[in-house]
Amino acid sequence: MFKPQPKIIVHANMKLKNTYVCTKCGYLSVKWIGKCPNCNTWNSFQEEVIATEQAREHQGLAQTTFTLNQALTSDRRLYTNLAELDRVFGGGITEGSLILLSGEPGIGKSTLTLKICQIFAENETKNNILYVSGEESIAQIAARAKRMDIDNKKISIVAETNLENILATILQEKPEFIIIDSIQVLSASAIPSIAGSVNQVRYCTETLMKIAKKNNLTVMIIGHVTKDGNLAGPKILEHLVDTVILIEGERYQNLRVVRCVKNRFGSTNEIGLFEMTTTGLTEVRNASKHFLEGRKKESFGSTITAIIEGTRPFLVEVQALTSPTTFGYPRRTSSGYDINRLQLLIAVLQKHLKINLQNQDVFINIVGGLRLNDPAADLAIALAIISSINQKPLPADTVFLGEIGLAGELRTVSHLEKRINESAKIGFKEIVIPKTTKTIPNATISIKRFSDLLEIVKTEKF
Ligand code: TYD
Ligand code: MG
Repeated sequence: MFKPQPKIIVHANMKLKNTYVCTKCGYLSVKWIGKCPNCNTWNSFQEEVIATEQAREHQGLAQTTFTLNQALTSDRRLYTNLAELDRVFGGGITEGSLILLSGEPGIGKSTLTLKICQIFAENETKNNILYVSGEESIAQIAARAKRMDIDNKKISIVAETNLENILATILQEKPEFIIIDSIQVLSASAIPSIAGSVNQVRYCTETLMKIAKKNNLTVMIIGHVTKDGNLAGPKILEHLVDTVILIEGERYQNLRVVRCVKNRFGSTNEIGLFEMTTTGLTEVRNASKHFLEGRKKESFGSTITAIIEGTRPFLVEVQALTSPTTFGYPRRTSSGYDINRLQLLIAVLQKHLKINLQNQDVFINIVGGLRLNDPAADLAIALAIISSINQKPLPADTVFLGEIGLAGELRTVSHLEKRINESAKIGFKEIVIPKTTKTIPNATISIKRFSDLLEIVKTEKF
């Protein structure tokens, strides 16, 4: 089995010990092990050298204490005036907070942070912004800034990876807002392991946190999440920082979903939608319209459902395509929808509706690049499959809502009123909902209620 061989810088005056650290979750082990007992990741252990006795001074000095109401200062928020972004942060970025912005390489982390810098500089929210780039040269950042049409004297760039140098720069320049791009390339001379190792990443973040808290500085740290887990995952930093923001999206599609996974200053269930354009990231203001764009109304295998992300409803188009399996095992492929959930729906269709899908490949696509986690989309997916099999379009002006149970029954969905109102607002004429739903709010859209999938298919003759 492959055993990673780290390059280690050893300082002669330190008492050192070898240990193995899980790069995913930070679990420590004295021996190298193949599978982490804490997070169950395979091959994630890396050898690290840690200082066993760190010189710490314990002088036992009393600190000044504050009563809670003395300590209570209202937190000041920095608004980007991008509704999609401010919402994710729980109403603006909290002044003096430490933010981790993570996502896969190439997803748009540097682009988003540069955009925030631009807004803060242009709105005069911050007059001295420092962008520390360890990954790209100054020329590369300048090229990106030019593409995004940013030209502002309030933003300074420095290409540096050494933590001590960065701290000295911070002390000298006294910036009010700092971007670190990225934490995985920083290294502190005080730590005897390579940049990107668990020790380095943790130490650099802790140091930056101390600086941020002491000076009430707002610091945004960029961290990559890689699929192979080679670099210390931003997971181990989550408990250190105040806010964790994740950018998601398919690399070759334009939609970017900005999601908050941890927030000490607000709720975490809101998302922000952006589109990657040739001039940087732009907000998607009318999400439903965006997801329904280019829809062919009379085609079979396509239908609309209303989902909830955070507190907001969106209408999305669901597409299914079935085609005879050429040989062997039928394929089930899905983009934007959970494959296990799809298997389950196919089993329900076979068992309760007697639709034979054993010799059919089934493909599902959620148009626009969104990933659906809302079970209310089940009904739309099932009906799209039926429509494709029968080669018969579903009614174009109807929205379908409902979670499907193992017996084919339709189960209640949450936030019904919001979904109905959004459907009416976008101009749909009819909505199909589960019968179990107790209250039906007054709406300007016709509502049909069904108790199970079989009943819909029989009554509506789909
Ligand atoms: P980047 O912000 O460099 O990603 P990260 O910092 O997360 O690695 O963005 C990378 C991609 O974004 C790159 O492939 C090109 C694309 N992009 C655009 O499409 N338009 C733009 O205006 C910019 C700046 C980038
Ligand atoms: Mg980058």
